[in-house]
Amino acid sequence: MKIISSYSIKGGVGKTALAANLAFALRDAGHRTLLIDLDPQGAVAFYFRVGSAEKFRMRDAQSMAEGLRSNIRESDFPGLDIIPSNLGYRHFDILLDGMAKRRKQLRKVLEEFKPHYDVILMDCPPNITLLSENVFRASDVILVPVVPTVLSQRTFEQLTGFFRDEDLPGGILHPFFSMVQKRNKMHKEIMAELTELHPGFLKTTIPFSVEVEKMGARRMPLLAYSHASDAAQAYRALCSEILIQLSQL
Ligand SMILES: Nc1ncnc2c1ncn2[C@@H]1O[C@H](COP(=O)(O)OP(=O)(O)OP(=O)(O)O)[C@@H](O)[C@H]1O
Ligand SMILES: [Mg+2]
Repeated sequence: MKIISSYSIKGGVGKTALAANLAFALRDAGHRTLLIDLDPQGAVAFYFRVGSAEKFRMRDAQSMAEGLRSNIRESDFPGLDIIPSNLGYRHFDILLDGMAKRRKQLRKVLEEFKPHYDVILMDCPPNITLLSENVFRASDVILVPVVPTVLSQRTFEQLTGFFRDEDLPGGILHPFFSMVQKRNKMHKEIMAELTELHPGFLKTTIPFSVEVEKMGARRMPLLAYSHASDAAQAYRALCSEILIQLSQL
């Protein structure tokens, strides 16, 4: 089983759009997939038309695992299960803070799901907290959407700096360009600069597309209603690129 996270310090960059479509694409490729929403905003449940998670008490890794397990929902797409979030997740950091080995609890919790899934994909909230540190230590691959703007570039550099300072393995960070506008000169310049500075950027870029924005109205992943659009093809290409990375681990 491999663990992938969709993560960025910055909000609104396409983390959830990626998580929903990558989960769909992974399951299409025959991988038993569990999509876990760690963000109290609960957008994953909304997109997949499942209810939010029941509240559960989190005292330690075991009760956290039990609570998550009791909230597994089948999606409309066989082979893809979902653990939605709930507003109680806003206390995640406080709960983790009270536990021993507080940066490694999530990794321990996810062990529980190993026999049942080929891939676990986590949609993360935008910030850098104790929960994020748990995500960093639990993930085999962290996908980081970077919109080619100065502020997005800055938060990506904060993240690589944090990994350096904390001696975390920077190789697990896989940034990619998100919401790219082909004709935007500034996008082109920032993409050229960043790929030179960070050769680890994925080759696939996700274009800015109104088709993606329609996910909110259609309430399903783009790949389920717009198979041939540029953005759908880009999500599938990104999935193939990630599967190659995973096969090399
Ligand atoms: N490639 C894209 N083209 C156009 N719109 C997009 C694209 N990706 C995401 N969006 C839209 O941008 C908004 C933010 O996207 P999304 O929710 O995926 O970002 P996020 O990083 O998960 O945000 P948050 O930090 O709030 O969790 C949504 O309305 C979504 O429909
Ligand atoms: Mg999100």
